[in-house]
Amino acid sequence: MRFSRRFMLALLSSVMAVGSATANTIDPNYKPSRGQSGKDVIWIPTPVELVEKMLTMAKVGPADRLFDLGAGDGIIAITAGRQFNATAVGIEFNPNMAEYARRQVRAAGVQDKVRIITGDIFQEDFSSATVVSMYLLPDLNLRLRPILLKMKPGTRLVSHAFNMGEWQPDETASAAGAMAFLWIVPAQVEGSWNATIDGKGAKLQLEQTFQNAGGTITLDGRARPLVGAKIRGEDLSFQFRGDAGAVSSFSGKVSGNRITGTLSTDRYTQTFEAQR
Ligand SMILES: C[S@@+](CC[C@H](N)C(=O)[O-])C[C@H]1O[C@@H](n2cnc3c(N)ncnc32)[C@H](O)[C@@H]1O
Repeated sequence: MRFSRRFMLALLSSVMAVGSATANTIDPNYKPSRGQSGKDVIWIPTPVELVEKMLTMAKVGPADRLFDLGAGDGIIAITAGRQFNATAVGIEFNPNMAEYARRQVRAAGVQDKVRIITGDIFQEDFSSATVVSMYLLPDLNLRLRPILLKMKPGTRLVSHAFNMGEWQPDETASAAGAMAFLWIVPAQVEGSWNATIDGKGAKLQLEQTFQNAGGTITLDGRARPLVGAKIRGEDLSFQFRGDAGAVSSFSGKVSGNRITGTLSTDRYTQTFEAQR
């Protein structure tokens, strides 16, 4: 069955009651039903075809630790462990649903890789994730956004159906009539940087809006505007025009308060280092 985004949004928002089971009242025969209430959002599972697209888009692999925020029956965490060989943790508020997901984990034989914890996504610590997946609601994504932006640069975020407001996705994918989005947490580059280019001093001034940046580079006492500055995880790139109009392209890495890389024109390549 295919649903429009507007219909899904209305449906996911429609029931906001808290699941009533506690750790002491787990029903061993519990089976969830599509559309049932949840703390902040109801349960509807992501179709498996879209789960696979999301995890492929996020390049999930054996080195990854995925957290699924609002795990439901565990489909995303289980697929990450079983098909992508990653370690995965699902956080689910409803204790009966969490226990059901644990049964699914055991049935899939991935209990060595996949763990379901009973908890609230707004209380649990998922800062050790290299990948975070979500099928929540737009306002929940926006509540999580400041936390997600502080995660390690390069952390991949995938969301089924819902975006992050003005933080544009880095990639999109679709399957089973639904959309998914990918963001790569950008390094924080804003500020004044003292640079050396093949040992010669320069100043870099950067402003940042999510994965886009702008600013100037001051060389030989002249400030030149940066063009097309992009941050993808720890990778930074930008261009500017030199004196004779030649385009210089920077490509390198940001590590905390240090930038290292190379500056190239069509004639030569120089080493570039900067400290904030
Ligand atoms: C739309 S379902 C998505 C399930 C799964 N991630 C998937 O994509 O198939 C959202 C799930 O989040 C759970 N949930 C709602 N509010 C939550 C909260 N604050 N903390 C943890 N889980 C929550 C619901 O019980 C439901 O199982």
